[in-house]
Amino acid sequence: MNKIYLWGFIVTAAMLGFTYMSVIGSKGGLNGDIVNILTAAAAVALVLITVFTVIKYVRQMQVDTASGELANEKWDDIGEYLNPIPTGWGILFLLTMVWGMWYFLIGYPVNGYSQIGEYNEDVAAHNTKFEAKYKDITGDRLIEMGESVFLAECKVCHGLTADGIDGTASDLNVRLEANVVKYHILHGSNSKLMGTENPMPNRYGIMNANTDYSPISDAEIDVVSEYVANGMTGEGADVFAGACAACHGADGKGQAYVAPNIATFDIGLVVTILNHGKRGVIGGMPAFDRLNTKQKEAVGAYITSLSAKE
Ligand code: HEC
Ligand code: HEC
Repeated sequence: MNKIYLWGFIVTAAMLGFTYMSVIGSKGGLNGDIVNILTAAAAVALVLITVFTVIKYVRQMQVDTASGELANEKWDDIGEYLNPIPTGWGILFLLTMVWGMWYFLIGYPVNGYSQIGEYNEDVAAHNTKFEAKYKDITGDRLIEMGESVFLAECKVCHGLTADGIDGTASDLNVRLEANVVKYHILHGSNSKLMGTENPMPNRYGIMNANTDYSPISDAEIDVVSEYVANGMTGEGADVFAGACAACHGADGKGQAYVAPNIATFDIGLVVTILNHGKRGVIGGMPAFDRLNTKQKEAVGAYITSLSAKE
């Protein structure tokens, strides 16, 4: 047997071995998933095709000899065979030039074709289909969809388990952290959390619990921030009732068109945050135009389910 076949056999065995180790050896393996199975089959096919193609050309190099008529010119002593251009290739070459001229002079400017425009149209069409297909899913299925959106779009900042990354993004397992509440009392809030231009005034616009028109005191701010962050429990109920409940509701769950829910997440709130982004004590969170309405709703359901578990 030619040595090259032996090498081909060794390389094939080694590469198939590596493929096996990285696919079957990894956690989960093929998992009965059709995409995984097709990918593994394609990997095996690629190994075989590569090895046999290499063998074919190495064999050819071993036996082929040069023949044919040489052109008169030599380029740095390298000769060139007098082979005519293959007809098919020549025709394609000419057609490409004609098409290039047409595209440059007429096709592009006159049709006003734009890749970005085509992409946007495709995305819009896909989103319509997506929303029609999934419009009826609710409950656990919606939360599952939200989890995959979260893992793709949000985990980079909010962390794999949504418990936030220090200084990068909020902990989404709780509705608000005390420092976030405090920040909004001190500075007010204007992130369009109601979906409208409906800002919350800063501390000087907020009435004090005890004396009607004086600003809320530092001590009261600390107490009420902890109260809200602890899910509306502990000390501070009186301050909340006096200074916050008029807008946020007695239970902190907000009122339509007045103030958002600060007790728990709800889908509507997350959707408006995704539509407008959010600026606050930790930094800025971008708006997420690239998600469609159903995906925003789904990730809202997922986040709501997280904070509900606490
Ligand atoms: C005059 C009505 C009003 C009062 C009084 C008020 N808020 Fe607000 N609050 C709002 C509005 C409106 C928003 C949403 C503003 C926006 O879109 O960013 C808001 C937002 C917030 C936020 C930010 C929510 C988030 O998800 O970022 C916190 C925290 C908050 N309020 C806490 C309080 C506390 C605590 C008090 C009492 C000390 C209080 N608010 C008093 C109207 C009010
Ligand atoms: C580029 C980083 C980044 C990405 C990506 C990101 N966020 Fe945020 N997110 C933030 C930051 C920063 C804040 C805090 C803003 C603040 O200080 O109030 C935040 C806040 C939030 C809040 C409000 C939290 C609260 O306590 O009021 C929600 C809800 C949220 N993000 C959801 C999401 C979802 C859903 C995604 C994925 C679709 C996402 N975020 C992706 C950075 C990010």
